[in-house]
Amino acid sequence: PRVVVVNGPNLGRLGVREPEVYGHQDLEHLRELCSDWGKELGLQVEVRQSDDEAEVIHWMHQAVDESTPVVLNPAAFTHYSYGLADAAAQVTDAGLTLVEVHISNPASREAFRRRSVISPIATGTITGFGFEGYHLALRAIAGGLRKA
Ligand code: DQA
Repeated sequence: PRVVVVNGPNLGRLGVREPEVYGHQDLEHLRELCSDWGKELGLQVEVRQSDDEAEVIHWMHQAVDESTPVVLNPAAFTHYSYGLADAAAQVTDAGLTLVEVHISNPASREAFRRRSVISPIATGTITGFGFEGYHLALRAIAGGLRKA
């Protein structure tokens, strides 16, 4: 089975951007980790990143059309993109798992990060565990975990 791991704006700058918050490893490293975790879990994992809201929304539509579960780090779109929220809702409405992941714990940071327009729609949310959050998300998908 396939899984798409979609990363939103500025996550192409991992390793360079605020390493004290997001760590010293780059997106390429995250790609390798996700592919290794996928192999362990029997999943074919595709890691994508875009700074463009339209592209991220398009990837949600594609996931619906291809019946593919999604791991989504919406980055800053988390906090304000109703367009992405509506697209993510189509994924979960189709009965597909969508796990929201954040590398940092947004609840422990600036006030504007406390609101997620994606969390109410996500099957589940994992925050604060660094890149390991993607591993947990892939494990949830491989294990067929459902919304409690
Ligand atoms: C983030 C948290 C968001 O608040 C922020 O805008 C990001 C990354 C995270 O992974 O911790 O770009 O989604």
